[in-house]
Amino acid sequence: MNCLALIIHGGAGTIRPEIAGAARAGVERALSTGWAILEAGGPATDACEEAIIQLEEDPVFDAGVGAHLNRDGKAQLDAILMDGRSLQSGAIGAVERIRNPIHLARLVLEKGEHSFLVGAGAEQFAVETGIGLCDPTELITPYEQERWAARAAELTPGGTVGAVALDAAGNLCAGTSTGGTFFKHPGRVGDSPLVGCGCYADNESAAVSCTGHGESIMKIVMAKAAADLVASGQHAQAAADAAVRLLSRRTTGSGGLIVVDRSGRVGASFSTPHMTWAVKTTI
Ligand code: GLY
Repeated sequence: MNCLALIIHGGAGTIRPEIAGAARAGVERALSTGWAILEAGGPATDACEEAIIQLEEDPVFDAGVGAHLNRDGKAQLDAILMDGRSLQSGAIGAVERIRNPIHLARLVLEKGEHSFLVGAGAEQFAVETGIGLCDPTELITPYEQERWAARAAELTPGGTVGAVALDAAGNLCAGTSTGGTFFKHPGRVGDSPLVGCGCYADNESAAVSCTGHGESIMKIVMAKAAADLVASGQHAQAAADAAVRLLSRRTTGSGGLIVVDRSGRVGASFSTPHMTWAVKTTI
């Protein structure tokens, strides 16, 4: 059997001390969920999707329930899942009535006709595929509501979630899900659902999920930059470190990423004060 590997992140930023324990427990739970799938011989796509669903359901993170609110006081969510075997990705952006955006991204990926659906069209696709729409208020936690009312942007930056996996068949997958930045302009979409920016997976190189300031991460196409460094022979950790250095050198933003290569070697790096992450491999 091939090596198995799974890394989870719960976002790069400044994590308030009072939620640090809950964030750590959340990524560990998501790791256990995804790992059970890989250990049973399941595909990396399932492991990433199920791990991310767990994080979307956890109000500690900026994804699904508990997402940061935009200027209009709404949660507008973005997500992507990318399959390293086919290079097919499925992404959704700026949806307001989807409780588990990564699941809808998976359906876009599987349908295969398009790669990225946004807004009302993405929600129409959800209805067509039978997953249904949630009440937008389900996504809003009292904490985020109060923070929005106080315009308290400095309290909890970060919190995007992601997973990267290598399965027993040797396939890589990466997924990322986010509510984006606090008090963002309605309609703003960051790096997370963009192929090569917030997420990339290629069986010939690596699977990568990024977190941090989206407008900066987009400038350096960070996930693809890291995957290309792995393809050129760098260890996953060296590639992650180099991608973060590039982010710092070429932009004013900060962030982080997780990386697994086709041999199961892993890397994680960040330029923010904190990044919550967890890893398990059979190497
Ligand atoms: N990295 C998440 C965002 O900027 O939307």
